[in-house]
Amino acid sequence: MKAILEVERVSYRWPNNKAALINCSLQIPKPGLWMLVGGNGSGKSTLLRLLSGLLEPKEGEIRLASIAALVFQNPDHQLLLPCCGSELCFHLPIGIAPQAELIEAALDQVGLAGFSNRPIHSLSGGQKQRLAIASALLSGAELLLLDEPTALLDPESQGAVLALIRQLCKQTATQPKPLTALWVTHKLEELHHCDGALRLEQGSAGPWLTGASMASALEGLPRGRAGG
Ligand SMILES: Nc1ncnc2c1ncn2[C@@H]1O[C@H](COP(=O)(O)OP(=O)(O)O)[C@@H](O)[C@H]1O
Ligand SMILES: [Mg+2]
Repeated sequence: MKAILEVERVSYRWPNNKAALINCSLQIPKPGLWMLVGGNGSGKSTLLRLLSGLLEPKEGEIRLASIAALVFQNPDHQLLLPCCGSELCFHLPIGIAPQAELIEAALDQVGLAGFSNRPIHSLSGGQKQRLAIASALLSGAELLLLDEPTALLDPESQGAVLALIRQLCKQTATQPKPLTALWVTHKLEELHHCDGALRLEQGSAGPWLTGASMASALEGLPRGRAGG
């Protein structure tokens, strides 16, 4: 398999028979920051739940070349333990000893160096979101699924989280194995930072466009249809 992620003709109905995805196909060809847009109820969150294994497709196939980790819109819905270090230990794969250096390195990677003993309740929203990203990194996932990760953050923290993911997904001399991120957004300005964007409409995915083309295609649409 060449693509990091392949979704082939996936359909999903909720138990109330509501169709959330209908014959949905898409591929993520290579590492980078990829964005997903679509109006309210178009199936974005359902797709991310299917990709992360929280739901199983009723029809079709999902092929992943790596573990996928989900980052929620609200970090309070996923951070479980009292302090940063214990939260990160909890996400280590089974069999990996929770060494302090591993935890420190993950905190450092997301700009939270020295935060190991900090109580989670003392973090800002942006810091909590970066801790959730560090947990995903420690879990060994190479595919991050981010469901509107900046929706609840102030503008400065939004920019910092976007810059962090952008950096983790970029190939550099010090980072030969960049991550892949699939980032759901309602913010047209975020689209300008991605490697490609696709739109979910009535449960199916359109083609990959550049972020700029997607932003201008959505600009004229009423809020809600575009995703805002
Ligand atoms: N837990 C649920 N039970 C029943 N229907 C749901 C549930 N979650 C979402 N849906 C329905 O599935 C469709 C897609 O929802 P969702 O994936 O949340 O869309 P989006 O994230 O794009 O706003 C919507 O019609 C929504 O009402
Ligand atoms: Mg959603």
